[in-house]
Amino acid sequence: MKPKVLVTRSIPEAGLALLRERVDLEIGPSEGFMPREVLLAKLPLFDGVLCLLKDRMDREALDAATRLKVLSNYGVGYDNIDVPYATAKGIVVTNTPDVLTEATADMAFALLLAVARRLSEAERIAREGKWAWAPDFLLGADLHGATLGLVGFGRIGKAVARRAKGFGLRIRYTLARPSAEGDELGAVHVPIPEDLLAESDFVSLHVPLVAETRHFMNEERFRRMKPGAIFVNTGRGGLVDQEALARALNEGWIAGAGLDVFDPEPLPAEHPLFRAKNLLPAPHIGSATPNARNGMAVCAATNLLAVLEGRTPPNPVLV
Ligand code: DGY
Repeated sequence: MKPKVLVTRSIPEAGLALLRERVDLEIGPSEGFMPREVLLAKLPLFDGVLCLLKDRMDREALDAATRLKVLSNYGVGYDNIDVPYATAKGIVVTNTPDVLTEATADMAFALLLAVARRLSEAERIAREGKWAWAPDFLLGADLHGATLGLVGFGRIGKAVARRAKGFGLRIRYTLARPSAEGDELGAVHVPIPEDLLAESDFVSLHVPLVAETRHFMNEERFRRMKPGAIFVNTGRGGLVDQEALARALNEGWIAGAGLDVFDPEPLPAEHPLFRAKNLLPAPHIGSATPNARNGMAVCAATNLLAVLEGRTPPNPVLV
């Protein structure tokens, strides 16, 4: 008998096609997410679940999943899953690294450039048609010769560093072990995050959201940044104390921010962050390219099938 697999929401066909042949497949809604109570009711029926970042796989959900062998996350971030608890229950958790690295690094760099050169403001002014070129008109920040501080120097952090090198930025990173790739890019390891924040003109976050990194960017750390600095987050909203960031922007502790991620998502329109000056928000589109999303689908399906077929999955999340 084929194993029973639930994909909690429709994903690209490239991944579903791999599953159709080899498992008894149920696919959730093609829009939105599976409501929590529906998910909880279904979980006891499946050997494998391919879940998305909105599916909260906490103790309650994992306890309901009595025959579950594998939880394959469609995404590299796995803060939606209680990995230690799943692992203790013998459920293998997997994620989708690599396939979205370049797309997410592009997004971080797009935000960095857009905030540096004030593109939101520029677009609005250009559309209004009431402007005149002037020596001091809409001046932005130079990238060339400035310092980029990367918090996290894993796959995505390094991909951002590769782009930064081409733009003539000096590269610093923290919260990671020095590595060969870092040396090649001329990136310098700064052991103390506060030092990195104090010397960077641009700061970009590339660490996973786990208990130790929640609100990594708090009021104290925003106050450490340069008044002209620009902050970028394409990781997870929970890495940032968003009220502190709103104050940092409004009170000029930093010059601007580009955010692709929020806590919660979507962040309610009335949140103080949306009234902050020089904020460029985006709706979590870091991995939103066909290549990345197809790659994620294939990767998540491959991980799931490997576990159900008794093989080691390519991308286990280890505690
Ligand atoms: C991930 O894979 O964690 C991304 O945030 C999805 O876009």
